[in-house]
Amino acid sequence: MKSVNDRSTCLKSAQSSEKTPMINIEGKSIPFHKDDKTLLNCLEKSDVEVHYHCRDGFCGACRVTLVEGEIYYPNGEPLAFVGEGEILPCCCIPQGNIKLIIE
Ligand code: FES
Repeated sequence: MKSVNDRSTCLKSAQSSEKTPMINIEGKSIPFHKDDKTLLNCLEKSDVEVHYHCRDGFCGACRVTLVEGEIYYPNGEPLAFVGEGEILPCCCIPQGNIKLIIE
Protein backbone atom coordinates (compact mmCIF):
# COMPACT_ATOMS: atom_id res chain seq x y z
CA MET A 1 0.00 0.00 0.00
CA LYS A 2 1.37 3.42 -0.98
CA SER A 3 1.36 6.27 1.47
CA VAL A 4 0.77 9.93 0.62
CA ASN A 5 4.53 10.46 0.81
CA ASP A 6 5.11 7.78 -1.83
CA ARG A 7 2.69 9.54 -4.15
CA SER A 8 4.34 12.94 -3.74
CA THR A 9 7.73 11.37 -4.43
CA CYS A 10 6.33 9.89 -7.65
CA LEU A 11 4.92 13.26 -8.70
CA LYS A 12 8.20 15.03 -8.00
CA SER A 13 10.19 12.52 -10.01
CA ALA A 14 7.71 12.73 -12.91
CA GLN A 15 7.96 16.52 -12.90
CA SER A 16 11.74 16.59 -12.72
CA SER A 17 12.02 14.12 -15.62
CA GLU A 18 10.09 16.52 -17.89
CA LYS A 19 12.52 18.32 -20.14
CA THR A 20 12.18 21.99 -20.89
CA PRO A 21 11.34 22.33 -24.58
CA MET A 22 13.87 24.42 -26.48
CA ILE A 23 12.88 26.77 -29.28
CA ASN A 24 15.51 27.07 -31.98
CA ILE A 25 15.15 30.20 -34.05
CA GLU A 26 17.75 31.80 -36.25
CA GLY A 27 20.57 30.06 -34.40
CA LYS A 28 19.22 31.13 -31.00
CA SER A 29 18.00 28.59 -28.42
CA ILE A 30 15.21 29.70 -26.12
CA PRO A 31 13.70 27.62 -23.30
CA PHE A 32 9.91 27.33 -23.18
CA HIS A 33 8.61 27.42 -19.61
CA LYS A 34 5.08 26.43 -18.68
CA ASP A 35 4.39 29.86 -17.24
CA ASP A 36 4.99 31.33 -20.71
CA LYS A 37 1.55 29.85 -21.53
CA THR A 38 1.99 30.37 -25.29
CA LEU A 39 4.86 30.18 -27.73
CA LEU A 40 4.30 33.86 -28.60
CA ASN A 41 4.78 34.91 -24.95
CA CYS A 42 7.98 32.88 -24.83
CA LEU A 43 9.35 34.49 -28.01
CA GLU A 44 8.46 37.98 -26.83
CA LYS A 45 10.12 37.38 -23.48
CA SER A 46 13.30 36.57 -25.38
CA ASP A 47 13.03 39.67 -27.60
CA VAL A 48 12.16 37.71 -30.74
CA GLU A 49 9.96 39.96 -32.84
CA VAL A 50 6.77 38.30 -34.09
CA HIS A 51 3.87 40.20 -35.65
CA TYR A 52 0.56 39.65 -33.93
CA HIS A 53 -2.89 41.15 -33.65
CA CYS A 54 -5.60 39.14 -31.90
CA ARG A 55 -3.36 36.82 -29.83
CA ASP A 56 -6.19 34.29 -29.94
CA GLY A 57 -5.94 32.29 -33.17
CA PHE A 58 -8.40 34.37 -35.21
CA CYS A 59 -6.36 36.70 -37.44
CA GLY A 60 -3.34 34.64 -38.53
CA ALA A 61 -0.99 37.62 -38.19
CA CYS A 62 1.44 35.71 -36.00
CA ARG A 63 1.99 32.73 -38.32
CA VAL A 64 5.51 31.32 -38.49
CA THR A 65 7.01 28.25 -40.14
CA LEU A 66 7.63 25.16 -38.06
CA VAL A 67 10.73 23.47 -39.49
CA GLU A 68 11.19 20.73 -36.88
CA GLY A 69 9.27 19.35 -33.94
CA GLU A 70 5.65 19.42 -32.92
CA ILE A 71 3.31 21.86 -31.25
CA TYR A 72 -0.26 21.63 -30.07
CA TYR A 73 -3.14 24.00 -29.53
CA PRO A 74 -4.33 23.56 -25.92
CA ASN A 75 -7.63 25.36 -26.60
CA GLY A 76 -8.38 23.48 -29.81
CA GLU A 77 -7.57 24.20 -33.45
CA PRO A 78 -7.43 27.95 -34.20
CA LEU A 79 -9.86 29.53 -36.67
CA ALA A 80 -7.23 31.43 -38.71
CA PHE A 81 -5.94 29.90 -41.93
CA VAL A 82 -2.51 28.32 -41.67
CA GLY A 83 -0.62 26.92 -44.62
CA GLU A 84 1.35 23.69 -44.78
CA GLY A 85 4.09 23.79 -42.12
CA GLU A 86 2.82 26.99 -40.55
CA ILE A 87 1.74 27.47 -36.94
CA LEU A 88 0.21 30.22 -34.84
CA PRO A 89 2.49 30.92 -31.87
CA CYS A 90 -0.16 33.03 -30.09
CA CYS A 91 -2.17 29.95 -29.19
CA CYS A 92 0.18 26.97 -29.29
CA ILE A 93 2.78 25.39 -27.09
CA PRO A 94 5.69 23.16 -28.10
CA GLN A 95 5.67 19.42 -27.49
CA GLY A 96 9.43 19.09 -27.09
CA ASN A 97 12.15 20.88 -29.01
CA ILE A 98 11.11 22.82 -32.09
CA LYS A 99 12.77 24.87 -34.81
CA LEU A 100 11.09 27.93 -36.32
CA ILE A 101 11.54 30.36 -39.18
CA ILE A 102 10.01 33.81 -38.83
CA GLU A 103 9.66 35.76 -42.06
S1 FES B 1 -2.16 36.92 -33.30
FE1 FES B 1 -4.00 36.50 -34.34
S2 FES B 1 -3.82 34.41 -34.84
FE2 FES B 1 -2.05 34.80 -33.66
